[in-house]
Amino acid sequence: MDRFAWHPEPELLGVRDPDVSREALRSIGVATWDAGLDYLYDQALERAMGETTGYADLRSRYFGPSGEPGPAPDEPTPLAALLEEFRTRVAPHTVSAFHPRSFGYFTPAPLTASIVGEVLSQFAQQGVDIFHAGPVAATMEEEVIRWLCDIIGYDRDSFGILTSGGVMANFIGMALVRDTHVPQLLGLDRPPRGHTLEGLRVYTGDQSHFSIGRALDELGFPPETLVSVPADVDFRLRGDEVAAAIAEDRAAGRTPVAIAAVAGSTNTGAVDAIVELADVAAGEGLWLHVDAAYGAAARLSARDADRVMGLDRADSVTIDPHKWFFQAYDIGGLMIRRGVALEEVFGGRRPEYYRAGHASMAASVPDPHDAGLNFWKLGFEGTRRWRALKLWFSWRHLGTPGFGRLIEANNDLAAHLAVVIAASPDFEALPAVPSLSVVCFRHLVDGLDAGALDEHQDRIQDALESSGAGWVSTTRLRGATWLRAGILNTQATESDVEGLLDTLRELAANVG
Ligand SMILES: Cc1ncc(COP(=O)(O)O)c(C=O)c1O
Repeated sequence: MDRFAWHPEPELLGVRDPDVSREALRSIGVATWDAGLDYLYDQALERAMGETTGYADLRSRYFGPSGEPGPAPDEPTPLAALLEEFRTRVAPHTVSAFHPRSFGYFTPAPLTASIVGEVLSQFAQQGVDIFHAGPVAATMEEEVIRWLCDIIGYDRDSFGILTSGGVMANFIGMALVRDTHVPQLLGLDRPPRGHTLEGLRVYTGDQSHFSIGRALDELGFPPETLVSVPADVDFRLRGDEVAAAIAEDRAAGRTPVAIAAVAGSTNTGAVDAIVELADVAAGEGLWLHVDAAYGAAARLSARDADRVMGLDRADSVTIDPHKWFFQAYDIGGLMIRRGVALEEVFGGRRPEYYRAGHASMAASVPDPHDAGLNFWKLGFEGTRRWRALKLWFSWRHLGTPGFGRLIEANNDLAAHLAVVIAASPDFEALPAVPSLSVVCFRHLVDGLDAGALDEHQDRIQDALESSGAGWVSTTRLRGATWLRAGILNTQATESDVEGLLDTLRELAANVG
């Protein structure tokens, strides 16, 4: 221990001797979990949003009067003191997804099993890039990818990769369009770059996630590549509309290459007409990507699976377990019907320090290091977190039907909120019946013009946020501002969604 004498708690660094360190490590573990429980019961279940939310207020309370970060610490601080500081100076300013009236973005509180898996994955620090840097972690990633492919309905030719989230998964999906599908479509002998990307077209609905367009931009497609096709009255992209846009583009000499649909849109949870779009894609020779970052979880419920049909017809599907699988951040994923496509796109470069994984996934090779589980060649990242462990813990803990019950409860609650809104003359919902568990609605006030009514929604959202009594976001639909309740919440009950409306009414009486 002498060489660690400078350390504030030498037994937490020099861990080799259990007689010296094990008890100290155990107590800091208990103290950490206790800090988590204090957070849960003193803050998270009490307030949906921290005490201080405004930018300037928070900065002066957190940083001190200067409102700016100070220098890096010179002096050590014992961990117990840092836990105390977390309690007093940090936790009171957090947003809480645990709160039973927290209906935020697609950002639920994590399941306990997921937190357990996350903690252990950090403890074990496996790098899931090259097989031998995290052998069982890579094998487990294969396992959860298989489970995710199974709920899509893909066969054993499929494969995938876990990502930081849906943005990265959509990015990889668009990279596959560029580097596997376009060469095949145009008969190129190498992936297209520069001028070769001109004249290509990718169709998406007006409700799709912004990351599809950003991916195309960053991949070098010209801005006009993305064709935004209007969704129908229920916010769903339909096959006929896309077919018409394709016909128009072909007539003008342009080259359609892909459709990027969404199953569970960010704004309203709408599910594009995937089966219709799959028919169009098949008839036209286009790649079909479905961003089911949120909606794919409906496949976990035997009762509600048919709300998200046809994913098996897609060439690639984004699924984000940190959305409706209630996982600790971060874990997203991209599943691909023809799994070898990942390596075709990303496996080209062979760094000298990754001396494994150089054989193709498709080839049968005796050395397990040369099998497909070298994730460095299947995506953008090098060193990767052991993302699979928390999902594995959760899925094993609940079983698919257990996950399904959570999904069904949220869908039922959304349906209940919509019914209560329909019966309330001072609220309206759009659409009137939610596709999944998102409800967009607004508070109506007689005599306000369209602009003032929009401002009213922002004001009551702001008032709700400051009150801490609940949380909803806002969005814009058809040129107007709406409150948006994303019901991804295991604690909420019918009385919580009803109470949310009552609170909004009370706040509305005092704003503006
Ligand atoms: C439909 C959809 N796709 C993709 C994303 C991006 O996911 P992430 O922010 O986890 O990268 C979101 C985020 O809300 C989303 O709603």
